[in-house]
Amino acid sequence: MIDLRSDTVTQPTAAMRQAMADAEVGDDVYQEDPTVRRLEELAADLLGKQAALFFPTGTMANQAAVHLHCRPGDEAVVERLAHSHDWENAGAAVLSGVQLRAVDGEAGIIDAAALAEVLAPRTELRSRISLVILENTHNMAGGKAWPLATLSETAAAARAAGAAVHLDGARLPNAAVATGTSMAKLSAPFDSVMISLSKGLSAPAGSVLAGSGAFVREARRVRGLFGGGMRQVGVLAAAGIVALENQFERLAEDHRRASDLAEGLTAGGGASLAYGHVDSNIVVLDVSGGGVAALAARAAERGVLCGATATDYMRLVTHRHIDDAAVTTAIDCLGGLLAETSSD
Ligand SMILES: Cc1ncc(COP(=O)(O)O)c(C=O)c1O
Repeated sequence: MIDLRSDTVTQPTAAMRQAMADAEVGDDVYQEDPTVRRLEELAADLLGKQAALFFPTGTMANQAAVHLHCRPGDEAVVERLAHSHDWENAGAAVLSGVQLRAVDGEAGIIDAAALAEVLAPRTELRSRISLVILENTHNMAGGKAWPLATLSETAAAARAAGAAVHLDGARLPNAAVATGTSMAKLSAPFDSVMISLSKGLSAPAGSVLAGSGAFVREARRVRGLFGGGMRQVGVLAAAGIVALENQFERLAEDHRRASDLAEGLTAGGGASLAYGHVDSNIVVLDVSGGGVAALAARAAERGVLCGATATDYMRLVTHRHIDDAAVTTAIDCLGGLLAETSSD
């Protein structure tokens, strides 16, 4: 099978499995796991923050950030297609009493002027907007990598209005590779940052939430509240360390293959790029006329798995298990199906 549904399907590397077997562990709820400490220090360093905390998932880390930056009855601004808006089970409302205010971006990007308008002073009859969440790369907007200048301006507009800024950086490593900008620079405008270890970096599970020392101390309390305290979890942190140390550079290959894939699939005219770009490892195709679920089902019968993210949008994600031959096969298979569909 050629699995283009997501980079979350990546398997741990041999080095990760070895590191997991060898990991020195302790009870992390007592803060006694030396491997978790090492991962958290490494992540804080790479993200240019004072401290970091290991979480079982990116969703829990994002929701902990919402919980910490907002009070019940507050609002948090998100881009309409953002993971925290569409794919976290209304967690902000359920777990924190926070209402999300969805704003349309341009290919996932909310510029400073648009944000300033949303954050304009409000009467006391309207809820306080205490948080803005930005996503980099923006998953559903075709893996968009924010230019650093735009990211900084939008974050500054949030701060100017008194809101905190959280970065959903599930794929921040991809953003850093795509823009040639360090993760620390891309994280600098933010109060808190989440990165995932389990996507293109290939670790089996885990995310990290970073911020100031005081923020991370509170995040530990909220992680406990959400049931995310883990015990001898150095076995997972060990894989996370290998992910951050060894899997970063090769993301450029995934990006190059995503461009090849997009080029091959749009050449025939059966589909176009939904957001006009391939910045990283995600291709979102606009399959005009819809029927994406049926198309994905036919592709699956031929051994190619695709993400049917909307009736007329198909998401394809490259990762460590997609080599050049897989790209060629996927172009042949999907290109053929797209040509048949557009001539139906
Ligand atoms: C942009 C983004 N944020 C957050 C998450 C959540 O991560 P997890 O699956 O670890 O909860 C994902 C997962 O796909 C994501 O794509």
